[in-house]
Formats: sequence, C-alpha cells, structure tokens
Amino acid sequence: MDPLVQLENVTKRYDNGAAPAVDNVSLAVAAGEAVAIMGPSGSGKSTLLNLIAGMDRPTSGAVRVGGERVDLLSETAVARFRRRQVGMIFQFFNLLDDMTVADNVLLPAQLAGTRTAAARQRAAELLATLRIAHRRDAYPARLSGGERQRVAIARALINRPAVLLADEPTGAVDRATGDEIGALLLELNAAGQTLILVTHNPDLAVRYAHRVVEIADGRVTSDAVLADGGRPAAERTLP
Ligand SMILES: Nc1ncnc2c1ncn2[C@@H]1O[C@H](COP(=O)(O)OP(=O)(O)O)[C@@H](O)[C@H]1O
Ligand SMILES: [Mg+2]
Repeated sequence: MDPLVQLENVTKRYDNGAAPAVDNVSLAVAAGEAVAIMGPSGSGKSTLLNLIAGMDRPTSGAVRVGGERVDLLSETAVARFRRRQVGMIFQFFNLLDDMTVADNVLLPAQLAGTRTAAARQRAAELLATLRIAHRRDAYPARLSGGERQRVAIARALINRPAVLLADEPTGAVDRATGDEIGALLLELNAAGQTLILVTHNPDLAVRYAHRVVEIADGRVTSDAVLADGGRPAAERTLP
C-alpha cells in the first residue's frame, strides 16, 4: 500500500552557510499509524511537521501526502490542502480568544465552505468525543490547559484531515493533563486517525505511539516500531 505521508530525501535550509534544519530525511507513514517524533530542541522536529503540513517548502526533495506532491502545489492549492488534508495542534493551542469554543471549532469548516448544518453536526460530535461539549459556549481564557488542547484537537479534526500533526501538544500542561491528552490521541488513532506526534517526553512517545522516530541535527537516527508494552519490536538504526 502506498504510504499516506512520504518524505523523500527532504532537506530544508533556512540560511545558506548554516547547517540545514532538516537534512536529507526520508520517511514513510502509512494510514492509521501513530508515530512519535523525538529529538532535542532545535533538531528539526517542527520544521519536519511544517513541511508535511505545507506550511513550509523543502529546499530539495519531495513531500507527498495522499500521493499529492505538497511541495509543488501553488499558493492557492496549498491553502486548500492545509484546510482539508492536515489538522495541526500546538503546545500553546493557538485558539482565537475572542471566539467561543464552538466557534473556534467551526471556523475551519466555514473556511472550507462546508454547509453550516453539516459543520455544526460534526462539531457537536467532536466536542462530545473530546468530552468538552459542556464548555461549548465558553471563551478559551476561561478553560484549563487540558480543556484548551481538547478544543484545539476538535478544531484540527473538523474537516476530517487525513493526518493529525501534533507539535509538543503536552508541552504546556501538567503531567496528568498530558497523560489525558495522550490517551485521547491514542483513542482517535484507534478509531483510524493517522497521527504524527512531536514530543520531548519519552513516556508519552512509548505509551501513545506505535512507532518512534528519533532525529538529531535534522537527520533520522533511529526508527523503531514498538511492541505492546512499549518495548521496541524491531529497530532499524540508520547510518
Ligand atoms: N523560520 C526559521 N528561520 C530560520 N531558522 C529556523 C526557522 N525555523 C527553525 N529554524 C532553525 O532550524 C533548526 C530546527 O528548528 P526546529 O524545527 O524548530 O527544531 P525543533 O522543533 O526540533 O526544536 C534550528 O536550528 C532553528 O533555529
Ligand atoms: Mg519545535
């Protein structure tokens, strides 16, 4: 089966002279996988997610999502791709503070031109799944960190993206809340959502992903599929 997300020899260089942020990375993620990306600060994790999301373009190499060359899309096509094919969540949630929970979640559906009735129904389902429906009329400032991240996940999923990209989603919450977010992401993955999760937290990676990719200095240094219980089932250490 073709991978859902595929990077082929992808390099991203921000500054000529400086070392590339992503250095000749090849990586394939199948539909339904839950992949954790780990590595030290500055190792290129966010850059990698941004390249998959079409937020940034590689200096060289190919990025495919669902068989489509994301790196070659026009500005208009890439905007459409971002709205429909990828959902993204972040450490600091990036919710709009002057909109209610329900309106934050609905916004990407409105931007994508989804019929209002269908969008409202989808939003209601997601708010229920993410156990945040009782806060639908609240403003983000009144929510806890864990509640905000649940709203952000609902917003990321409203357009049924092929892949959910999470950039240190538990970086700004306490441990118990982090575990709760990890468990929710795993639940979504069990229901079929492909997930690529950047995290600093080895516990989270092992408990809430099925595969751990380690990167250092922009390169993949290890790519391991985990057995149940979080021990590596097969490890492939790359040169
Ligand atoms: N927009 C940018 N312009 C210039 N350099 C950048 C930019 N974004 C990231 N970098 C650099 O690229 C490298 C990788 O950064 P990043 O992908 O944010 O790493 P991580 O998410 O693993 O902490 C770092 O050296 C960082 O300074
Ligand atoms: Mg980062």
